[in-house]
Amino acid sequence: VERTLVLIKPDGVRRSIIGEVISRIERKGLRIAAMDMRTLSTEVAEAHYEEHANRPFFASLVEFITGGPLVAMVVEGERAIEAFRSLAGATDPVSAVPGTIRGDFALEVQENIVHGSDSTYSADREIKLFFPELA
Ligand code: GTP
Ligand code: MG
Repeated sequence: VERTLVLIKPDGVRRSIIGEVISRIERKGLRIAAMDMRTLSTEVAEAHYEEHANRPFFASLVEFITGGPLVAMVVEGERAIEAFRSLAGATDPVSAVPGTIRGDFALEVQENIVHGSDSTYSADREIKLFFPELA
């Protein structure tokens, strides 16, 4: 089966919608293979978002993602990567369709509630970073 790394970012934890997000994942038929709550170090956050290192918003993104506890999980199932990206909705929550997590719960591009790996390559890399014991 396919696996993807999902994060409920610190804004999602702060707003008490962990259960809401988990419920949507489970209702879809995806399975949670591993899960915990943790606060990221700057080093792990920079490694996670390394593809964005040259973007103007990188420092702000790292500060946000390390700014409080988040929920990290490995989600698995048939085409789990695409299935979760579809549940999450577009990166910009204003463009995200209502009915998606971002479309229903967010308004700002940085604080968009969830992360999901965007390819099998990213999923392997990110699962190794967050759950090395599973990789
Ligand atoms: P992730 O699943 O979190 O990787 O989101 P994504 O794949 O939909 O978007 P992308 O990888 O392009 O960007 C990673 C994260 O950076 C986004 O989820 C946002 O939190 C943040 N981000 C993206 N674009 C912007 C931007 O223009 N400004 C700011 N401040 N943050 C951004
Ligand atoms: Mg991304």
